[in-house]
Amino acid sequence: MENGLWQLLVRRGFLVQSSELYGGLAGFYDYGVMGAPLKRRFEDTWRRYFLSLNRNFHEIDGAIVQPEDVFRASGHLEHFDDPIVACIKCEHAERADHLLQEHLKEKFEGLNEKEYDALITKHKIKCARCDGTLGHASKQNLMFPVTVGVQSKTRAFLRPETAQVPYVNFARSFEVTRKQLPLGLALVGRAFRNEISPRQGVYRMREFTQAELQIFFDPSALDAHEDWDSVKIYRLRLLFAKDRKKTVELTCSDANQKHGIPKFYLYHMARVQQFYLDVLGVAPERFRFYELSDEERAFYNKFHWDVEIDVASFGGFAEVGGIHYRTDHDLSGHARVSKKPQEVFYNERRFTPHVLELSFGVDRNVYALLELSYKEGERTVLALPHTIAPYDAAVFPLVNKEGMDTEALRVHNALSKKFRIFYDDGGSIGRRYARQDEIGTPFCITVDGQTMKDRTVTIRNRDTGKQERVSVDALEIKIRELLD
Ligand code: GLY
Repeated sequence: MENGLWQLLVRRGFLVQSSELYGGLAGFYDYGVMGAPLKRRFEDTWRRYFLSLNRNFHEIDGAIVQPEDVFRASGHLEHFDDPIVACIKCEHAERADHLLQEHLKEKFEGLNEKEYDALITKHKIKCARCDGTLGHASKQNLMFPVTVGVQSKTRAFLRPETAQVPYVNFARSFEVTRKQLPLGLALVGRAFRNEISPRQGVYRMREFTQAELQIFFDPSALDAHEDWDSVKIYRLRLLFAKDRKKTVELTCSDANQKHGIPKFYLYHMARVQQFYLDVLGVAPERFRFYELSDEERAFYNKFHWDVEIDVASFGGFAEVGGIHYRTDHDLSGHARVSKKPQEVFYNERRFTPHVLELSFGVDRNVYALLELSYKEGERTVLALPHTIAPYDAAVFPLVNKEGMDTEALRVHNALSKKFRIFYDDGGSIGRRYARQDEIGTPFCITVDGQTMKDRTVTIRNRDTGKQERVSVDALEIKIRELLD
């Protein structure tokens, strides 16, 4: 990722390799003074949108370390692995499917070890590092084990997904929320995967943030949603597993009737697409849902469509989220291992709720939005959506004299109570505008000579470069309007 954008992100304090001072550790990144507010604002935008989809959707939080039994129940102990091949000579290890994809420009997920071996032999693929012969493919579990306690040691893991926290909290949450379905439990937090060769920058991190919403529902209502009418003529952008050549646009109604995708699932696909297109401003042609084939699907999913955005440095369309119909896989697993039933009595029936999971990788989304917003040319601009830009506006005095600096500070202090405002009084005004363009600040407010006469300031628009004059007293209302 040595492109212009990456240099800007490091230079301006968005992202940097973690522990860079000591040479860094592959797959770990830190967010700096611009990156941290950007990431937090993405998370807040996500929360506002997804928690408002239903009055019974709530946010919870939970421990990152969970005991081994959680992952015995979820299946991660047994199945959460990637195929690995190691060089016989230098022992350098790679993911077998990624190695094949690099060489043959096709996806190779979900094959068994013998199939990987056969393809590697057939195409005479050698170690990328020393050209040595590769050994047999094997499976590598991706969880980070930890030992809890000193004397009596308990085996545990850093959670590989946030999802298991809502699952182990389901029964209590159902009681607390007055036993209603659907019940949504959202969690935004860290997850950890010991990726085999995390060379794709922020796309494949070992420590990352997920924003996930687990929706527990009555499986007999899978082909229904109380708000179905609001999405039935909405057109989804879909790439079916049986035809990978072309993304098609289909109404939810057609996807239901002609392709048998259930209404509860489609309703949430529509809301996810609207989040990207309407809230984050992603161009429709850069967005699609990608249906996973039986071989590609995660082991716990019955229906599995990835959310993909077209991002050049991710190599084109790439997964930034997923919509997973996990059935009762997790709750039944926890009932079995914990020996505590996870059934509910609802609508005169006793059953184990099913789960629809809306899952998003926060870091991938944030990076994708940065890249889609990055414009080089006469001016370098990060045209970020207003909702997630690190700052709402910047305030400058044109010069640091004739009372302009005092007035600019006054404007800054007043607006800072309501908005995130950057203050800059260093260097030429042109340089200051350029700095704000590079960090994506939508509006720059300048206090100049005229301000001292008539209490008006200029507001400059990041995207057009145009300015207008506004009274200082009307600034708060004006900025609110502009940010809307
Ligand atoms: N919880 C789903 C995932 O981590 O992909």
